[in-house]
Amino acid sequence: MPKPTILVTGGAGYIGSHTTLELLLAGFTVVIVDNLCNSSVAVVRRLRELAGPEAPELHFIQADILDRSALDKAFAAHQPHAVIHFAGLKAVGESTRDPLTYYDVNVGGSIQLIRAMQKAGCHRLVFSSSASVYGSTPKIQPIPEHLAPSPSIASPYGKTKAHVEDLLQDWVASDAQVGVTLLRYFNPIGAHPSGQIGEDPKGTPNNLMPYLAQVATQTRPYLPVFGDSYATSDGTCIRDYLHVVDLALGHLAALRDLQLGVCEAYNLGTGCGTSVLELIHLMSETVGRELPYRILPMRPGDVKELRADPSKAQAKLGWVAHRTVKEMCEDTWKWRTLNPHGYETTGNAHEH
Ligand code: NAD
Ligand code: WQD
Repeated sequence: MPKPTILVTGGAGYIGSHTTLELLLAGFTVVIVDNLCNSSVAVVRRLRELAGPEAPELHFIQADILDRSALDKAFAAHQPHAVIHFAGLKAVGESTRDPLTYYDVNVGGSIQLIRAMQKAGCHRLVFSSSASVYGSTPKIQPIPEHLAPSPSIASPYGKTKAHVEDLLQDWVASDAQVGVTLLRYFNPIGAHPSGQIGEDPKGTPNNLMPYLAQVATQTRPYLPVFGDSYATSDGTCIRDYLHVVDLALGHLAALRDLQLGVCEAYNLGTGCGTSVLELIHLMSETVGRELPYRILPMRPGDVKELRADPSKAQAKLGWVAHRTVKEMCEDTWKWRTLNPHGYETTGNAHEH
């Protein structure tokens, strides 16, 4: 029997594209709904190529999740069995400058999506949440799921994730026929080992790895390191980096496990910590030269250390992040060298 259809909002984006590929390879038909505000339609052709001719269909609908009638049409046309909801805005700094837009898209968009699901009788949802729901003063490392939501969430971005988690909890409490899984990602980096899909931020990257990758390709002269006087072994912040392919596979595990009448949260991370200087060192080793960096003042709102306790995902979903930080560096480097200008490299970023 063919596997059911999964609707993936934000499926043209970084994590959504890697997850869509794994869904196709596992035999699911996929419908992407994405307004391309932070992605390129070129990813759709690459996904079809990577999935191969035997893969089920991949449909692409360019639409905004705030556009309820477009969502209703997509649900009516494809009758998805479940939704994986990636679409949203994710720049922490921008969310502080323009909080209303973040609430509008991340919270308002999620409400429109849930209403469209209700109307279509679609009962299963996997939501992209974030380690940012643990706030800026997590008391325990590695962090277990029950510490969220924290009252110390620093940014409007992080607060939108906590609000959507709350509203999904309430939705499930109101209707035993729906089931939701909240996946709290730690720091996804890396790219598909083919080098054909990867992270392609527009403008100056906000996050460490995409910035470092642009230093590696000499698009930027040096990496600004935000602070070296934290109480860590080398003074720089520690994060739990996980390979985006491991993260993508976590969504398949979540879909397999999803139960109606339950809203369950899982950390997706490795449980291991890597400092900023350690990541620079591993990336330098990968590239074959010392990547330049400069120590700058601390970035406001940064947390000294963030590490997942991933044992719940292992025990309940059977999911473990296997790929090493070195593989994350190697795959990022392959993606950047094959696509120094991201999806614009081929000159056909706007083709369907
Ligand atoms: P991304 O920006 O690459 O992907 C998001 C996709 O959603 C993009 O393709 C964008 O065009 C689309 N989109 C945005 N607003 C939309 C709208 N109104 N309607 C339709 N499509 C819209 O980001 P990503 O890194 O792939 O993140 C995916 C999800 O995971 C986001 O919800 C993000 O908050 C969450 N998340 C990301 C990280 C991370 O470090 N990348 C960590 C934790 C959580
Ligand atoms: C990692 C470390 C920086 C850039 C953010 C969001 C979080 C989640 C993942 C979406 C920190 C340092 C960074 C640079 C640097 N996203 N750094 N120079 O801050 O852990 O998490 O992205 O949900 O919600 O808050 O990730 O990659 O920005 O930073 O020194 O140019 O790298 O200070 O210690 P972060 P990051």
